[in-house]
Amino acid sequence: MKHNFMLLTVVSAVMSTQVVASDAKVPVNLPESKPGQYVHQAPTIDDLMADESVHPELRKVILKGYDLFMNTQQLRGEYVFNDMSCKTCHMGEGRMNWSGPVWPAATTLPDYRGKNKHVNSLEERIAGCFAYSMNGQPPAYGSDDMLALTAYHQWLAKSAPVYEKNISGRGFSHLGKQIPDDISYAKGEAVYAANCAICHGNDGAGQKKDGKVVFPPLWGDGAYNWGAGLTRVFTAASFIKNNMPLSKPGSLSDNDAWQVAWYINSQERPQDPRYTGDARATREQFIDFHKHTRYGTDVNGKVLGQHDNTGEKPFLKPSNLKPRTFE
Ligand code: HEC
Ligand code: HEC
Repeated sequence: MKHNFMLLTVVSAVMSTQVVASDAKVPVNLPESKPGQYVHQAPTIDDLMADESVHPELRKVILKGYDLFMNTQQLRGEYVFNDMSCKTCHMGEGRMNWSGPVWPAATTLPDYRGKNKHVNSLEERIAGCFAYSMNGQPPAYGSDDMLALTAYHQWLAKSAPVYEKNISGRGFSHLGKQIPDDISYAKGEAVYAANCAICHGNDGAGQKKDGKVVFPPLWGDGAYNWGAGLTRVFTAASFIKNNMPLSKPGSLSDNDAWQVAWYINSQERPQDPRYTGDARATREQFIDFHKHTRYGTDVNGKVLGQHDNTGEKPFLKPSNLKPRTFE
C-alpha cells in the first residue's frame, strides 16, 4: 500500500508539469519528424498496470526501474554523487521525443559506441550516464538495480522495431553540431539571466527545498561532470531549445539556445573521470568528444577543468569503465 501511494504522488507530480506545459501561452515549436522515420509512442505506467499479459513479478521489476529512474537520488552516495535523477534530463519519464527518450538504447544495443570505442550493452550505456551525467558509478552489471533499470527501458521500447536507427525525436542534437559564428559568453550570460536564473540560480547551483532538489544545478559540484554528454555545446543547445525554460519548450530562438549552452558549459563542474592530471592533455586524448566541449581550453583567463575537484564524489575513476576489445 505504502509503495502504491508513493508511486501515485510521483505520477501526479509529473502530470501537473504536463498540465503547466499545455497551458503555456508561448509557441511550442518542436521539430517535425522526417518522412520515413520511425515514430514511437512509449507506453505509460498506466498502460503497464492495465496490461494483464505482464507477469506480476515482472511488473514489480519494471516499477522498481521506473522508481529508480524518477528518483535516482535514492542511490545518492552509493552510485549518484550529484543532484541529478535520470528524469532530470530524460524528461517525461524518459518517454518524451526530443527529450532524449531512453528506449532506443534497448532496441539498438548491443552496438559499437564511438565514445568508448567498443561494443556496448544496454547496461553499459546506462552505466555511462551514471559515470558522467550522475557524476557517480554504475550499479554492478546484473545487480537488482541494473535489472530494474534495464527492464524499465525495455518496457518503454514495447513494440518498437529492433535495430531500427532512423528514429524520430531521438537524443538531443537536432540543431546540428555547428556552433554559430557569433557565439559569445556575454550573450549567453544575458539569455541566462533573463530566462534561466529564476529557477537554476545566478550561481547555477539550482534550488533545494527540505533537502530535495526542486531545480537542478547546471554547474558546480552538484552538476553533471566534464565527461557528460551535455558538456558538448551542441547537445546542451538542442536539449535547451526543446525543453527549457521548463514548460515553454521551443520558445527560445535557436541562436539564444546556442548562446546559453555556451555560457553554461563555460562554467566549472566536477572533473571528467578520464582525467589524466592535465586537462589540456585529457582533452587531446578524447578529442572526438571534447572538440565539442570547452574542457581544457582557456576561458576568461583560466583553463577549464584544470583541477582535482571531483565534486561530492570521493573517487575519480569508476572502476567499471574498462575498455573491452575482442581479438
Ligand atoms: C545531465 C543529463 C543526464 C542525466 C542526469 C542522465 N542522462 Fe542519460 N543521456 C544524456 C545525454 C546527453 C545522452 C546522449 C543523447 C544523445 O545521444 O544526444 C544520454 C543518453 C542516454 C541513453 C541512450 C539513449 C539512446 O538514444 O540511445 C540512455 C539509455 C540513458 N541516457 C539513460 C540514462 C539513465 C538510466 C540515467 C540515470 C541513471 C540517465 N541517463 C541520466 C544525459 C543525461
Ligand atoms: C521554471 C523553472 C525553470 C526554468 C525557468 C528553467 N529551467 Fe531548466 N530545468 C528545470 C527543471 C525542473 C529541470 C529538471 C526537469 C525535470 O526534472 O523534469 C530542468 C533541467 C534543466 C537542464 C538539464 C539538467 C541539468 O541540471 O543539467 C538544463 C541543462 C537546463 N534545465 C537548462 C536551462 C536553461 C538554459 C534555462 C533557460 C533558458 C532553463 N533551464 C530554465 C527548471 C527550469
